[in-house]
Amino acid sequence: MSAGATPARAARWGHPHVLDMDSFSLPDIEQVMETADAMKEVLGRPIKRVPTFRGKTVATLFYEPSTRTRASFEMAAKNLSADVVSMAAATSSAAKGESLVDTMRTLEAMGVDVIVMRHPQSGAPYLAARHTRCGIINGGDGWHAHPTQALLDLYSIRERLGRLAGLRAVIVGDILHSRVARSNLYGMAASGVEVTVCGPPTLLPPAFATAFPGVRLETDLDIALDGADVVMALRLQRERQEAGLLPSMEEYIARYQINLRRLSLAHPGALVMHPGPVNQGVELSPEVSYGAASLIKSQVANGVAVRMALLYLILGGEG
Ligand code: CP
Repeated sequence: MSAGATPARAARWGHPHVLDMDSFSLPDIEQVMETADAMKEVLGRPIKRVPTFRGKTVATLFYEPSTRTRASFEMAAKNLSADVVSMAAATSSAAKGESLVDTMRTLEAMGVDVIVMRHPQSGAPYLAARHTRCGIINGGDGWHAHPTQALLDLYSIRERLGRLAGLRAVIVGDILHSRVARSNLYGMAASGVEVTVCGPPTLLPPAFATAFPGVRLETDLDIALDGADVVMALRLQRERQEAGLLPSMEEYIARYQINLRRLSLAHPGALVMHPGPVNQGVELSPEVSYGAASLIKSQVANGVAVRMALLYLILGGEG
């Protein structure tokens, strides 16, 4: 991508917002991947910046903590020369009781073009999208969705293995409460990836079998891993044990931690992924977390390129 260049296909992008992966077709996902390829070329330059969105403004509005999503969107916007307004709910007027809708209208009135938001309530970005002309990107809403994480996960797999269709993936951990799992299930299904979800019965909702036809449910990780090309561990929130959903952390580690023995059950060369933040020594053993199979650093790095691609597509690529 040359400075300020516009990929020819940007004009056909049909999503003013990015709310979840259920509205993304395979051609949509491929368009994000191809645009992210162009953004990676920009990121490989000595000066990682193009003037494409000079004069545009991207706001990040986070009602929950974040390192990766927020920082990578802010870097992505700056790499495209957009201005960035960075807000945490705790230090915004939300702390004084301002409603989400009023906050959206306020940002729109100031001339913000795109709002990247994370909110503890599932569905909050949909409400926001109904009440503003700004583009809304969901940076994670409750247990519901984390579409940009799913897109960077798909991109990272495709980059390392050269394809998505026909691969076998295992997603292991707290499936019930995971917005990352839900968004990946839609994205992987659209991309032709065959998925098994695996976890303790209390964190593996049977309703997933109906909601995601074709997805296999398995409580035995050794069985689930057989022949897997991709193993994605999810972050385990320690509150789940307090809520009685896990007998003990030690038992979870014994049954569901990805360690070298378990990884040997997967396909040779299988990738290990984690959206972060990792509870070191819980979801992954240190040898796996930092080993050759780990894709975690690439996931983080690709987050910038994929989020540049999404901003590029939503803002129209015209600059
Ligand atoms: N994967 C992810 O959403 O990480 P952050 O919470 O750090 O943004």
